[in-house]
Amino acid sequence: MVKVLAVFGTRPEAIKMAPLVIELKKRTGIECKVAVTAQHREMLDQVLEIFNIKPDYDLNIMKAGQTLFDITADVLMGFKNILSEFKVDMMLVHGDTSTTFAASLAAYYQKIPIGHVEAGLRTGDKYAPFPEEMNRKLTGALVDLHFAPTKRSKQNLLNEGVNPASVYITGNTVIDALKMMVCEKYKFNVCKLDKIDYNNKRVLLVTAHRRENYGGALQNICHALKDIKLEFENVEIVFPVHKNPAVRNVVYEVLDNINGIHIIEPLDYKQFVNLIKQSYIILTDSGGLQEEAPALGKPVLVMRDVTERPEAVEAGTVRVVGTKKDDIKRHVRELLNNSEVYNRMAKAVNPYGDGYAAKRIADAICYWFGLSKVRPGEFVCHL
Ligand code: UD1
Ligand code: UDP
Repeated sequence: MVKVLAVFGTRPEAIKMAPLVIELKKRTGIECKVAVTAQHREMLDQVLEIFNIKPDYDLNIMKAGQTLFDITADVLMGFKNILSEFKVDMMLVHGDTSTTFAASLAAYYQKIPIGHVEAGLRTGDKYAPFPEEMNRKLTGALVDLHFAPTKRSKQNLLNEGVNPASVYITGNTVIDALKMMVCEKYKFNVCKLDKIDYNNKRVLLVTAHRRENYGGALQNICHALKDIKLEFENVEIVFPVHKNPAVRNVVYEVLDNINGIHIIEPLDYKQFVNLIKQSYIILTDSGGLQEEAPALGKPVLVMRDVTERPEAVEAGTVRVVGTKKDDIKRHVRELLNNSEVYNRMAKAVNPYGDGYAAKRIADAICYWFGLSKVRPGEFVCHL
C-alpha cells in the first residue's frame, strides 16, 4: 500500500483538496489519510462537513489574531510529531497558504516526497499576494510532483528550471468541487438569501479578505459598495464576511444596517456556489472565485492590483479593477448600465478545468509509484 497524507488547513484548500481525497480513497493500492492544521477552524469545518471528510489528524492551531510566525511555527512542529507516527510515502499539499509551505518544509526535513496541487501560479511580485506568492514559490522548490492547473502555470515552473517530467497539467480541482455542488434548483437555508427576489433584483456577490487589502483598501471597497447600493435601487448586495476580525470590523462598521446590503456569515460551499449562480456580478479579492465564477458565466471584478490567474482575464470574463473607490464604482456601473459589455463578460468559460483534475492527479501519483505503467494525459483548454 502506498501511504499518502493529504494536508490542508484553510477553507479554500479544503474545498480544492476534497475531490482529490475522495478520489484517492477509491483507489486500490493507495491508503489516503487526511491531516488538517485547522489554520481556519469554523470555515474549515464547514467544508469538511459538506464533503463528509473526517480528518485522521487535526493540529487545531488556529488562534485569534494569529500571525504568520504563529502559523508557520505551529504547523512545522505539529507535523514533526505526525510524520514520526504515520510513515508516509508522499505528502500532498495545496496552493499557497502558510499551512502549505510549513507542512512541505516538515516533509522535506523528513525526506518525504511531496506532491503540490495547484502549482506554478505566479504574479512575479513577492509581496502580492502576500505572503501567498512566496508560499507557493518556496513550496515549489521543495516538492517532487507539480500539479499545474493550466498550461501557463506549467510554463511558469519550466521558466524556473523545474524538471518538465515532474509537472502535470491537470486542470484545477476547484472545478471538480464546483460540479459536485452546483444544482439546477436550490433553496437557501439562510433566511436573508431565500427572501431575495432574484428575478427582479440584480445581486452583487462580494467577498474580501486579503492581507494586502486590510485597512484603507477594504475601507474603499466598502464605501464603493455603499455608494453603488444608494445609486441603484434594483441592486442587492450580499457580502458573506470572512471570520477574520481585521476584515469583519471594517465591513460591519461601514455596511451594517443598510437597506439592500446583506452582511452575512460565511456560507457553506454548497450554498455559496449556488448563490454565485443566482448573482449578477461577483466582486472579490479571492483566488478561488476567479476560477469558479467564469465557469458559471458570471463577470468577476477582482479588487486587487495583480492576479496570479490571468487566464480568465484573457478570456474576457474577469477584470482586475484595483481597490480605489472610484475605479470599483466605474466598473460596476458599466456592467450595470451597459448590457453589451455585460453580455460580453457573462459567457461561461472554463480555462481552469473540466471536472477531472482529481482523477488526473490520482493517476499521476499511481504512475509515480509504479502502480500504473502509462503517464496520464493532460488537461487541454479549448478556449
Ligand atoms: C488564509 C491564508 C490565505 C487564504 C485565506 C483563505 C495564509 C497566510 N493565509 O488567510 O492565503 O487565501 O486563508 O480564506 O496562509 N478566523 C476565524 N475562524 C476561521 C478562520 C479564520 O476566527 O474559521 C480568524 C482568526 O482570528 C484568525 C484570522 O481569522 O486568526 C486570520 O486567519 P488566517 O488563516 O491567519 O488568515 P486568512 O486571512 O484567513
Ligand atoms: N466560499 C464559501 N463560502 C463563502 C465564501 C467563499 O464556500 O462564504 C468559497 C468560494 O466558493 C471559494 C473559496 O471559498 O471556493 C474561496 O475561499 P477564500 O476566499 O477564503 O480564499 P482564496 O480563494 O482567496 O484563497
